[in-house]
Amino acid sequence: MSQIHSGILGTGHSYPAGILTNADLEKMVDTSDDWITSRTGIKQRRKAAADEYTSQFAVRASRQAIERAGIKAAGLDLILCATVTPDQILPSTACLIQAELGSDKAAAMDIVAACSGFLYGLTLADAMIRGGQSKYVLVIGAEILTRYVDYTDRSTCVLFGDGAGAAVVGAVEGESGILAAKIRSDGRYEEQLYAPGGGTKGGFSAETIARGDHFFKMKGNELFKVAVRSMSDISREVLEEAGLTTTDVELFIPHQANQRITDAVASKLNVDESKVYSNIARHGNTSSASIPIGLDECVEAGRVQKGDIILMASFGGGVTWGGVVMRW
Ligand code: ACO
Repeated sequence: MSQIHSGILGTGHSYPAGILTNADLEKMVDTSDDWITSRTGIKQRRKAAADEYTSQFAVRASRQAIERAGIKAAGLDLILCATVTPDQILPSTACLIQAELGSDKAAAMDIVAACSGFLYGLTLADAMIRGGQSKYVLVIGAEILTRYVDYTDRSTCVLFGDGAGAAVVGAVEGESGILAAKIRSDGRYEEQLYAPGGGTKGGFSAETIARGDHFFKMKGNELFKVAVRSMSDISREVLEEAGLTTTDVELFIPHQANQRITDAVASKLNVDESKVYSNIARHGNTSSASIPIGLDECVEAGRVQKGDIILMASFGGGVTWGGVVMRW
């Protein structure tokens, strides 16, 4: 690779201290640890306290990523925060993070692409660096999904958790770095996962809040099939573009939505179980935060070695999906 290309220079993650276990949920809705474990693989998820908010976890994860990248926050050119659960509608959570970090030169904006947000951010960061527009880009996935979960709806409330992950992306030399990145969407599937209230269409009033219009609604069964198909297809596409096959993959970090989705995608791709990362038992589905949390956990555990091929694939509300393959 002789052209300028980008790679991940440092990673970080952070999540709330609060834990919501399957046993806790058994006391809240008509469910069981057995149902949740066998249908999803989830045993617990992190839950933010009422006075905690998204940017706090994003800033903690970012500081760790910046330190590990060996740069200063003031050196960042661009901050991309993927989130569907921002601190507030305006300004963007990315701007609040920019101020907190003191990244005076950086542009900042949010990315709303649900669970694919981090891979959307990584793809944009790669393009900005390749194009010479940015030197250092901070990409974050941060969510407090438990604020938007209806704890009377057993079909969604068992799934989601809170947390944040971050990565500093910069130019790299040699063979390492991002080899291929692709992102896609299909808004015709809007109602498979959505929150109708709170915006200019659904509005917000005492009635919409009482109806719970701001809570996530999901057609889990239909999403399941689209998720498996789109994640396997895009994984094949990025691998092919990079001139690789699934046998080259040392580590596969799929979006953590459901263990059964992960298993189905890995099986379709023929990636051995030992190469597939899963933290869903501990975190549940943290949407845009799930891949960067997983990546940082792998880095901390020494599960990624220089030269390893890492495949990441995501799927989320929108619907959106994406794939990134890189050499560490
Ligand atoms: N406890 C006990 N029973 C339950 C629960 C629960 N928590 N939830 C649903 N059930 C019941 C249903 O009512 C249904 O009962 P019925 O047969 O009497 O009608 C039965 O269990 C089966 O329900 P299904 O919805 O068919 O269960 P399924 O096996 O599909 O699992 C799940 C549901 C876990 C939601 C699964 O479909 C899934 O993971 N889908 C994909 C989710 C996803 O990918 N989301 C996108 C990413 S998230 C993002 O973008 C933020």
